[in-house]
Amino acid sequence: MEEVRIALRNVGRIKPDSIEEYIAAGGYEALEKARTMDQGELIQTIEETSRLRGRGGAAFSTGKKWSSAFASKEKTKYLVCNADEGEPGTYKDRVIMEGDPHTVIEGLLIGAYAVGAKECFIYVRGEYEKSIKLLRKAVKQAEEKGFCGGTKIRVVSGAGAYVCGEGTAIVNSLEGLRGEPRLKPPSMAVKGLHQKPTVVNNVETFAVIPEIVRKGADWFGGIGAEKFPGTKLMCLSGDVENKVCVEVPTNATLREVLEQFGGGVAGGKKLKAVQLGGSSCGFVTPEQLDTPIDFDSIRSIGAALGSGAMYVIDESRNMVDILWEIARFFRHESCGKCTPCREGTMRVEELLEKLAAGEGSRQDVELIRKLSGYMQKNCFCPLGQSATTALISALKLFPEDFDAKIRKEA
Ligand SMILES: Cc1cc2nc3c(=O)[nH]c(=O)nc-3n(C[C@H](O)[C@H](O)[C@H](O)COP(=O)(O)O)c2cc1C
Repeated sequence: MEEVRIALRNVGRIKPDSIEEYIAAGGYEALEKARTMDQGELIQTIEETSRLRGRGGAAFSTGKKWSSAFASKEKTKYLVCNADEGEPGTYKDRVIMEGDPHTVIEGLLIGAYAVGAKECFIYVRGEYEKSIKLLRKAVKQAEEKGFCGGTKIRVVSGAGAYVCGEGTAIVNSLEGLRGEPRLKPPSMAVKGLHQKPTVVNNVETFAVIPEIVRKGADWFGGIGAEKFPGTKLMCLSGDVENKVCVEVPTNATLREVLEQFGGGVAGGKKLKAVQLGGSSCGFVTPEQLDTPIDFDSIRSIGAALGSGAMYVIDESRNMVDILWEIARFFRHESCGKCTPCREGTMRVEELLEKLAAGEGSRQDVELIRKLSGYMQKNCFCPLGQSATTALISALKLFPEDFDAKIRKEA
């Protein structure tokens, strides 16, 4: 399996702060081509021919999102690039933004033209100072060269919370409110930022748009898996030889990514599991490694592709220790808006701390199981609903790790 670089096509090849080098590599040709197309035709090409689905985690059809905003009669519409990248083990968007900020801006301008947005935002994780600096410079260069037309792009530093990466929470944050998710419906395509139709797409989603337009949606639709075509950026971390970010066609398997690009488990140890998709997702076992990385194949084995993070876990680890780390993350990141998440993440962390220290009982494990199920059903937003996904997955796949941690006389 070879890497196929679409989002990363220029990374490492051109200077990220040079619009001239981006243009010399074919940059902004797609924008010019897109602007000669009818908006409906452009959206249809993205939706039906390229069949592009969002790379932020939910894999929703990009064209469908664009077409609902386009269809709105409202005069003001907004387009937001989600560069908050808070999912643990995920660093792909940073690689794109630091290596080729113009591809994000070109993708965004094409999207703005398609939906009819005159104002766009790039909401960047606050810690990503280099990305913010490069994006601001790139926006200025694009404006000076006249590529923005009348479209305004603002690069905004994120508010410093994982939940702010959730589409409706970004919108709250952009309005200067607390970064908390909003109740849906109405969908963002109907009432988003300032109650106007708003489209939120991930950095990786925008980064492939210019090549789809330039080389043709047919070309993109012919790469990788039929129902989730194109490429996906995968980020390796944890007990793996090479902690790298690679872009592979979506019919590559998890094993190919781990072994070919990751160099296998660090120190030649045996693999125990891979946490796929980030801390909000479950585990994949070594027997499931021959599954292709496309969204639907991964879903069919009861896992989730999520952001494309692959956190590798070797045989020496006990899952309870890993789950305690994850629980700490979610307790810290719970925005506190709803009780099941605010209280639940705290209780789960306490119980896992007790278990990890060898002080827990079988009743504690049962309580964790009960709490996890309750949180999945009752939390207000996907943060709380997915805070215990890894826990539920580990209880099913690795019950012996919990047994090993239970206090002996308990
Ligand atoms: C708690 C939480 C955090 C999220 N963080 C991000 C993020 O950092 N970046 C991102 O693109 N999507 C994130 N998402 C998903 C977004 O809500 C949204 O689905 C995505 O930005 C849509 O873009 P796409 O259609 O291009 O995938 C998050 C979702 C949740 C529930």
